[in-house]
Amino acid sequence: MSDDNAVLERTPGISIDGLPARTFISRNTAVVAPRLVPEIQLHLAAEARPLYSAGEDELAAMGIGAPYWAFAWSGGQALARYVLDRPETLAGRRVLDFGAGSGLVAIAAALAGAAAVTAADIDPVAVEAMALNRSLNDVDFEIETADLIGAAGNWDVLLVGDVCYDKHLADRLIPWLRNESTRGCDVLIGDPGRFILRGLGLETVAAFHAETTGIMEDSDLRNARVWRFAR
Ligand SMILES: C[S@@+](CC[C@H](N)C(=O)[O-])C[C@H]1O[C@@H](n2cnc3c(N)ncnc32)[C@H](O)[C@@H]1O
Repeated sequence: MSDDNAVLERTPGISIDGLPARTFISRNTAVVAPRLVPEIQLHLAAEARPLYSAGEDELAAMGIGAPYWAFAWSGGQALARYVLDRPETLAGRRVLDFGAGSGLVAIAAALAGAAAVTAADIDPVAVEAMALNRSLNDVDFEIETADLIGAAGNWDVLLVGDVCYDKHLADRLIPWLRNESTRGCDVLIGDPGRFILRGLGLETVAAFHAETTGIMEDSDLRNARVWRFAR
């Protein structure tokens, strides 16, 4: 198990609404398993907790941005389910979970037997949440807070769960993912099929129904897929 203090050292003194970040997260979430991945427990927004329906103003008053880390996104659930069902995809390989949020996909990769896992997210609150979730699931992975887009990585598999939600982000992200795929890295993208991914020459690897909380999606049941660049 990694020492959680390693993360705290990199983000010293982070507090939310007057509380240490991890205390805030624990008090404002419930420990639940995403519907598609019942073997993993996460601190997630729950209807009975204020974070679930907090608006932008309330979040700003707490000093945080949108709590993406408090939801198990359908693309992330699909990707986690995929690697757990097919551990040979990751066995003995170095894995990066990019845009890790809660750390769901990194936890799945660690449970699936990857040789080494790094979870990357630029949101300092996500970093705290994924450290909590890492302990909760008794797995080991590194946490990276730098923006890795464009970085020449030493990973063999790049997992991207539900990060293609913003055009500006995708304009930077997609060329990097394509380059990584071209150099031989296995790039797997979990996504419900947003317009940003259309016309990129992606092929479907697997398809799932990933049930999410109603507040974050148009419908409770989303069809989420695992995609890769066609070779
Ligand atoms: C919609 S959430 C998905 C979280 C998780 N992968 C899942 O599927 O449940 C997208 C995440 O991407 C992160 N993100 C956005 N831009 C990023 C960047 N340049 N580097 C790392 N993470 C980023 C956000 O902070 C957020 O936590």
